[in-house]
Amino acid sequence: MKALVYHGPGKKSWDEVTKPILQAPTDAIVKIVKTTICGTDLHILKGDVPEVTEGRILGHEGIGIIEEAGNSVSAFKKGDRVLISCISSCGKCEYCKKGMYSHCMNGGWILGHLIDGTQAEYVRIPFADNSLYHITAGSSDDAMVMLSDILPTGFECGVLNGQVKPGDTVAIVGSGPIGLAVLLTAQFYTPARIIMIDVDDNRLEAAKKFGATNIINSQKNDAVKAVFALTENKGVDVAVEAVGVPATFELCQSIIAPGGHIANVGVHGKSVELHLEKLWSQNITITTRLVDTVTTPMLLRTVNSGKLEPEKLITHHFKLNNILEAYETFGNAAKEKSLKVILSNE
Ligand SMILES: NC(=O)c1ccc[n+]([C@@H]2O[C@H](COP(=O)([O-])OP(=O)(O)OC[C@H]3O[C@@H](n4cnc5c(N)ncnc54)[C@H](O)[C@@H]3O)[C@@H](O)[C@H]2O)c1
Ligand SMILES: [Zn+2]
Ligand SMILES: [Zn+2]
Repeated sequence: MKALVYHGPGKKSWDEVTKPILQAPTDAIVKIVKTTICGTDLHILKGDVPEVTEGRILGHEGIGIIEEAGNSVSAFKKGDRVLISCISSCGKCEYCKKGMYSHCMNGGWILGHLIDGTQAEYVRIPFADNSLYHITAGSSDDAMVMLSDILPTGFECGVLNGQVKPGDTVAIVGSGPIGLAVLLTAQFYTPARIIMIDVDDNRLEAAKKFGATNIINSQKNDAVKAVFALTENKGVDVAVEAVGVPATFELCQSIIAPGGHIANVGVHGKSVELHLEKLWSQNITITTRLVDTVTTPMLLRTVNSGKLEPEKLITHHFKLNNILEAYETFGNAAKEKSLKVILSNE
């Protein structure tokens, strides 16, 4: 079969590789129907994620059809259409029992990281019963792909951890696919104001279409001043960091109102200064999280009911065997005006 293989920092190719086989009775082999590329795949290609070894097939998102299910898999059978979670979880260990699938002692984020991933014609999914979801007839395939990673990430790490409430003022720093997923799912709670902050005007315009009440380009404006001007000098109730660099976490600390919540989503490679000299008395909370995907069943229902339309985040479609071209488009987001790209194996 064909797959996108990582060959060390800066190197990838579309190679002929061996088709995966069942390795445990709890595994399933899934024929990929659609997959996508994540910002995290770009981090891996930059060499930021050194656990990823040469020869690894990338990708942790997608939908497909069960090709073969192991003897212990009871919830899925050959021919079923499935959504693949970016988190594989055994459902039995101490962390799984707490609903913290991201820290599953036998799984976690392993797809396209520690084991071969979804940017391929076939993928092996461990603990299939707990790591796959049935797709019902009539669902939009493109929308389903957004449920593998970005929607649960935006909702769990941004909205739930940020404790967004009706009437709140929310700032989302970073208007990439994850920040936009926070924007879409924050609206479940009817916040009064959602301020989107980024340096890319195209992404800010997209945010406006998806429900942002205000947009701020922090390269062209003083974002702290602009936020205080919009909030009667109080700051925001919730600040979501969806970039992963020191400057944006600093910005969240500068705009948070007393009693507010700073919810970090971004993957940070550098240390960030914590301003306790200003924040110690402000009754704020700061949260961190790796997506658990425990809200996937709920999000799946909201998408199926038409209440949430994540396919709006998709800007480009490619055939799976043109994945190198798709990486170019996704990697040059500002120039190509790209958000999420879909790769179809059909
Ligand atoms: N916690 C988790 O479980 C989890 C899961 C998935 C992704 N992530 C992380 O979430 C982050 C966002 O993911 P994404 O796919 O949307 O990434 P992305 O790179 O597509 O988007 C980041 C956005 O930040 C903007 N930006 C860059 N520098 C900025 C600055 N100084 N000020 C304001 N905006 C700035 C960019 O223009 C871009 O629109 C990444 O760090 C990703 O690795 C975390
Ligand atoms: Zn991802
Ligand atoms: Zn587990």
